Amino acid sequence: AAEASADIGVIGLAVMGENLILNMASKGFTVAAFNRTTSKVDDFVTGRAKGLSILGADDLPTFVSLLKSPRKVMLMVKAGPAVDAFIDMLLPLLDEGDIIIDGGNTHFPDTVRREKALAEKNILFVGAGVSGGEEGALHGPSIMPGGNAAAWSALKPIFQKIAAQVDGQPCCDWVGDGGAGHFVKMVHNGIEYADMQMIAEAYSLLSGVLGLSAPEIGAILEDWNKGELDSYLIEITAEILKKTDDDTGQPMVDVILDTAGQKGTGKWTSVTALDVGAPANTIAEAVFARILSSLKDQRVEASKVLRGPEDIGEKPDRDAFVEQVRQALYASKICSYAQGFQMMELAAAEYGWKLDFGSIAQMWRGGCIIRAAFLDKIKAAFDGSSELPNLLLNAYFTEAIGTSQTAWRQVVAAAALRGVWTPAFSSSLAYYDGYRNPRLSANILQAQRDYFGAHTYERVDKPRGEFFHTNWTGRG
Ligand code: NAP
Ligand code: ATR
Repeated sequence: AAEASADIGVIGLAVMGENLILNMASKGFTVAAFNRTTSKVDDFVTGRAKGLSILGADDLPTFVSLLKSPRKVMLMVKAGPAVDAFIDMLLPLLDEGDIIIDGGNTHFPDTVRREKALAEKNILFVGAGVSGGEEGALHGPSIMPGGNAAAWSALKPIFQKIAAQVDGQPCCDWVGDGGAGHFVKMVHNGIEYADMQMIAEAYSLLSGVLGLSAPEIGAILEDWNKGELDSYLIEITAEILKKTDDDTGQPMVDVILDTAGQKGTGKWTSVTALDVGAPANTIAEAVFARILSSLKDQRVEASKVLRGPEDIGEKPDRDAFVEQVRQALYASKICSYAQGFQMMELAAAEYGWKLDFGSIAQMWRGGCIIRAAFLDKIKAAFDGSSELPNLLLNAYFTEAIGTSQTAWRQVVAAAALRGVWTPAFSSSLAYYDGYRNPRLSANILQAQRDYFGAHTYERVDKPRGEFFHTNWTGRG
């Protein structure tokens, strides 16, 4: 029998699995590798893995026999049936106390189900969100593990070493029970949708209102990246805007069709927000924005029929407007993160998780797509107050959004007056104005509900929990 010398085994030799294995080996771990199509194992061990502490296996029993106890098997396969198929095949080969980690983009209810089922067999199951794509997997991803907490002490030395490091701290820590790790990864992706949409809206405003070219906007974003908006997505968008298409000589973005695709994680986040009663409207708006963009043919037809605003004349001053858009983007971004964290807080209560929001901000600080300097501020906000009900109520963010709100309102107004499509900017402002309002118009909704359905209402001058009904029509 093969010697059990591997610290961990990874199944799934596609982009993520291969790069994660190379990352682990580069950090001094011995890694066993397996893939459903075993020719990929041979290609890998004779190719990229050659000469490294990586042991290929041609069948699953051999793979398992290579692992030190407690065995740690990480699945980096396509989310869904592939995960269940491998769990079923592994079960007869594993012993009690062994660990299975699903590092794919799994929907968190599946992780809840698998963790529960495997705990009954004394197999420790962990659902780990892994973010950062190919590059992150190889050089240091953000890793968000959750599930059976008994597995953490065995995984911690490996995961925290292979994860991205920021200021000497790993972008990986234990998230919580059950599906908490995959849940947090899902919210990460929802926030990512909103971040991407808001940057696209800043581009629309600068091109639509000021008439700037893609490379001119790229230079502006490059400049923004030196300040409070410093982030991976701003950085890559600046590069994207400066890129020229070899075929036409035009900016690349001008030849790319304006219909966005999606794999569904933003939709999961939005649906879950509705499930747990979280007002994550900017995130949902970013998903709807992609859906609207995909109706290209209808939009082209509608553009011939539906009138836009009348020309309101002169362009605003360039430098002043650029600065207003920058502030509007920052304020909108703060709102979408506030929504993401508020949603995690509500979900934690609903699903019985204990989440550490400062630690989650740290996990997103490096390695992942939404990595940004301002996550330090979010970490500080939650480290300073674990009970903070909303990021907007932290002094730094209260001040930041309060200072930028004038510019933000002017930008949203300018967009409305000129017919520029800015759903995420507007939606964030709606969230801000709703959240800071002590008396919303829901009194009217309650009256309407009581009128047509006798749904009752509470009164401002009576204790909460006492319900009243009015005979609105005077009829019997
Ligand atoms: P992928 O294309 O999602 O999956 C390919 C791997 O899954 C291959 O090893 C394939 O084996 C295996 N597989 C597929 N269907 C299977 C089945 N029915 N039974 C057994 N094995 C099956 O690979 P990936 O892009 O590396 O991603 C891996 C996971 O990480 C996914 O959950 C993905 O969503 C997640 N993720 C991806 C990224 C990214 O940027 N790509 C980033 C973060 C997370 P064969 O070779 O035999 O087909
Ligand atoms: P990460 O955690 O590194 O962000 P991810 O969650 O798998 O990795 O994907 C990152 C983004 O790249 C996702 O938002 C996804 O976009 P959509 O959900 O909008 O589709 C996109 N993405 C990842 N893999 C993709 C693929 N194979 N094809 C198209 N888009 C992909």
